[in-house]
Amino acid sequence: MTNKMWGGRFKEGPSAIMAEINASIDFDRRLYTQDIMASKAHAAMLAKQGIITKADAKKIRVGLDHINVEIATGTFKFSKALEDIHLNIESRLKELIGDAAGRLHTARSRNDQVATDMRLYVRDCVDALDGALQDLQLALAQKADAHAATLMPGFTHLQSAQPVTFGHHMLAYVEMIGRDRSRFADARKRMNENPLGAAALAGTSYAIDRHMTAEELGFDGPTRNSMDSVSARDYVLEVLSACVISSIHLSRLAEEIVIWCSAQFRFVKLSDKFTTGSSIMPQKRNPDAAELVRAKPGRILGAFTSLAMVLKGLPLTYSKDMQEDKELTFDALDNFALAIAAMAGLVRDMEPQSKTLLTAANADYSTATDLADWLVQALKMPFREAHHVTGKIVALAEKKSCTLSELLLEDMQAIHSGITKVVFKRLTVEASVASRSSFGGTAPSNVRREARRWLRASKGK
Ligand code: ARG
Repeated sequence: MTNKMWGGRFKEGPSAIMAEINASIDFDRRLYTQDIMASKAHAAMLAKQGIITKADAKKIRVGLDHINVEIATGTFKFSKALEDIHLNIESRLKELIGDAAGRLHTARSRNDQVATDMRLYVRDCVDALDGALQDLQLALAQKADAHAATLMPGFTHLQSAQPVTFGHHMLAYVEMIGRDRSRFADARKRMNENPLGAAALAGTSYAIDRHMTAEELGFDGPTRNSMDSVSARDYVLEVLSACVISSIHLSRLAEEIVIWCSAQFRFVKLSDKFTTGSSIMPQKRNPDAAELVRAKPGRILGAFTSLAMVLKGLPLTYSKDMQEDKELTFDALDNFALAIAAMAGLVRDMEPQSKTLLTAANADYSTATDLADWLVQALKMPFREAHHVTGKIVALAEKKSCTLSELLLEDMQAIHSGITKVVFKRLTVEASVASRSSFGGTAPSNVRREARRWLRASKGK
């Protein structure tokens, strides 16, 4: 049987394999809300412009609303022979309202239709992702506020470097996610133009009003070139690239959580809610959620790369290649959303172990820089020389297997006679973080102020 929606010039139906490779209904059915919304806007516009009658437009609207309910409640019968969501809906509309259904496709094509649906869908996802990322920032900022003065080692090269606070570490991620959100907002601004009315590729001879459908669908205005309208998918690439970058941020935190949970660190504890057991080792508690978040950038970048390859070298305008954008995009957006939700759960769940963190913060001569800074500030030593003197003191402590504050004053004075006992006040980890009150520094007062500033601002939004 030939396709009843476009089979006029065909004698035979497609081969089974043709139908199989062509059909997208199994995955593009999730565009139904957007498809119906865009069709309603299109029909209303056609009626206003006198291209179809008001009576037909009303039938179309009522029929589409009915279909919306059918799909939402699972009673709609999808047909693979009807290829995609657009033809499935239009065909059902014909069953419901008769000939008026055939007027809906005036002055439009599936090319501008799918371009519109996809923009609306991706835009909806971007809005949902922004809300989810904001919630993650909230979880991080709350942890930061609660642990503004909880000491921990700060690392460079994964070696203890200088003491910081747990709250400061959390706020670092609040910043990253803030930039991620602004990348999404940026992409949203650029993509928010209406391709509907570009028709197949060249525009249309009907006196349509693309500004009206743009407004109806929440777009800032119509796209300006009909050929670009039906072939542009760079907005999907842009959103996916924002997902990739943000998922990389999440994976860094996920990796830290995995490390922090390990027996060798024990910096944080996760509850039963966010860990799993091993089927063979009864003692185990594995941070699977964090590991999965750590893994997600792989498939998200995979989606970006695949779509980039689909689009590379594709001639203008629409080609069926573009149908391949959907599964990739849906999978990436679903998985990224899941990763954000899991990370927000992990952050809320994790309990920093202050005692272990403090011990670790004290280890490895973490206040050596403070000693050097004291030599500069109290003895007016050039920093390079102070660095050298401190190095010698650290070597001595290492030899004596003690911390810097456990060294005797005489030991230090043997290395530099100018050193006085005041220096010991600078060598505690508490004094170290408290002294780092420069803008953006780890001093607990800074961290508390930043966390609260952020929490206030997020309430205002
Ligand atoms: N299912 C198609 C897609 O997702 C819709 C557009 C089809 N257009 C066409 N001329 N066959 O890309």
